[in-house]
Amino acid sequence: MQETSLSARENGLRVAFVPTMGYLHDGHASLMREGRRRGELLVASIFVNPAQFGAGEDFESYPRDLERDSALAAGAGVDIIFAPSAREMYPAGYQTWVDVERLSLPLCGANRPGHFRGVTTVVAKLFNAVLPHVALFGRKDYQQLAVIRRMVADLNFPVEIVGMPIVREADGLAMSSRNAYLSPEERGSALCLSRAIIRARELYRQGIVRVDELREESRKIMADEPAVVIEYLEFRDGETLEEVTTAGSRTLLALAVRIGTTRLIDNCILGEEN
Ligand code: PAJ
Repeated sequence: MQETSLSARENGLRVAFVPTMGYLHDGHASLMREGRRRGELLVASIFVNPAQFGAGEDFESYPRDLERDSALAAGAGVDIIFAPSAREMYPAGYQTWVDVERLSLPLCGANRPGHFRGVTTVVAKLFNAVLPHVALFGRKDYQQLAVIRRMVADLNFPVEIVGMPIVREADGLAMSSRNAYLSPEERGSALCLSRAIIRARELYRQGIVRVDELREESRKIMADEPAVVIEYLEFRDGETLEEVTTAGSRTLLALAVRIGTTRLIDNCILGEEN
């Protein structure tokens, strides 16, 4: 992979990169189409990264279908799929980790200890393999994007990071490889995530800025779905991820829930569309 990228770079080509864990959907494809516009060699990685899954999480059952993914990626303009094995990425004796300390602590970091350390480590390794000029990430994983931006700044990676809007199903559910786990009933319950977001944004637009009040109203929407267990529902600064008590246009509403054994996340910036 490195040799291919180095020779592309020597030939003056701009390398664009979309890292994924596969089981691709239109959210991934939107990143790839934007990568196609921004680079002359478009690389996508498919690697279900064991280092970012905790004990008892869904590493083994995470959906995998390289054949289907290859077709979707080709349709979105990908030139090269980089799909290393876990052994290649983490050979015997592996012991080096990248840890973005503070931004990794709240939200998903608090509920999935070690998760972001696994993400930043694999993304750093993928950057070193693919040597991209530009890499694209979805705002669906808002905290992940913030953590990666921080890592790139702190470690001087010469990579431009592009954040892309959340792609949703027609009924509002944010696309996710994990949606495949949902039964039809659970799929229906999952709509409370986007409903809670729409409600909070609506109230904010009407001038309600007290976070207590916004949180209460969003929780009420979630409470209509007894099958949905809230892991967190938090209002935080969109840059620092610190807690806020008064909402502004750059305030992040971040949600994580469990529906049965499936964990889903969603978010919005109160002052933005989508
Ligand atoms: P994965 O969940 O496969 O997501 C790959 C990329 O697609 C991430 O940048 C994610 O934010 C983006 N994405 C997923 N669903 C999206 C949606 N509905 N709309 C827009 N973008 C979406 O995130 C990972 O993999 C991994 O943590 C990875 C970065 C590859 C490191 O292992």
